[in-house]
Amino acid sequence: MRERWVIGNWKMNGTLQRNRELLDALKALAPTRARIAVCVPSVFLPQTAELLAGTAIAWGAQDVSAQPNGAYTGQISSSMLQEFGASVAIVGHSERRLFNAESNEDVAKKALAAANAGLRPVVCVGESLAEREAGRAEAVVGAQLAACTEALARFPALPVIAYEPVWAIGTGKTASPEQAEAMHAFLRSELANISPEARQVPILYGGSVKPSNAAELFAQPNIDGGLIGGASLVAADFLAIAAA
Ligand code: PGA
Repeated sequence: MRERWVIGNWKMNGTLQRNRELLDALKALAPTRARIAVCVPSVFLPQTAELLAGTAIAWGAQDVSAQPNGAYTGQISSSMLQEFGASVAIVGHSERRLFNAESNEDVAKKALAAANAGLRPVVCVGESLAEREAGRAEAVVGAQLAACTEALARFPALPVIAYEPVWAIGTGKTASPEQAEAMHAFLRSELANISPEARQVPILYGGSVKPSNAAELFAQPNIDGGLIGGASLVAADFLAIAAA
């Protein structure tokens, strides 16, 4: 059976005080079928590691360097993250593709660097509204996945894929369960072409997931959980989504 995941992406939000309140509230999480993780700004990893130690909630980063170490001012390597107990790392989020000009090739290198250091890469893919309206959604998302094919085939542990249509991120517009499922089914068949194991890669949906739409999205046959932005900052919402 494929793994299920619900992963919070805090983006550039949080303060020591607010994180403590949020993480303390998340400790009330009842056992779920899904594995739960929060991806926090890296400066908060020591605090997160301390507060979540001994719980079932995993923690991780929102990006990694493609390099192992060296003269890369401002970057953080996967092995550094691992020292803080991080077990997952988001790579290729659309905000990084957009604001940091990350290419499909950059994302593939980061995914491989994370996996080589023992982190579970959460590789984000997704089309813009213009690309969807031009009928190019599958071509764009397929190319984003294909760039990672080599990395996928070489992964020591299966990565996680997150389908996040750019037009649904932080906009309140969720892809309908049918729209999301259609893209997930496409991704599943592309993964099956890579290897039989790749078929088992969990594919999460992200983009305005909230307590009111989570259950319907997660009930789709090829949706294995969610990558949650805004709603992961509100303990009650994140807990409700994890329960769904
Ligand atoms: P959102 O963000 O849930 O706020 O739409 C999702 C994401 O960007 O990972």
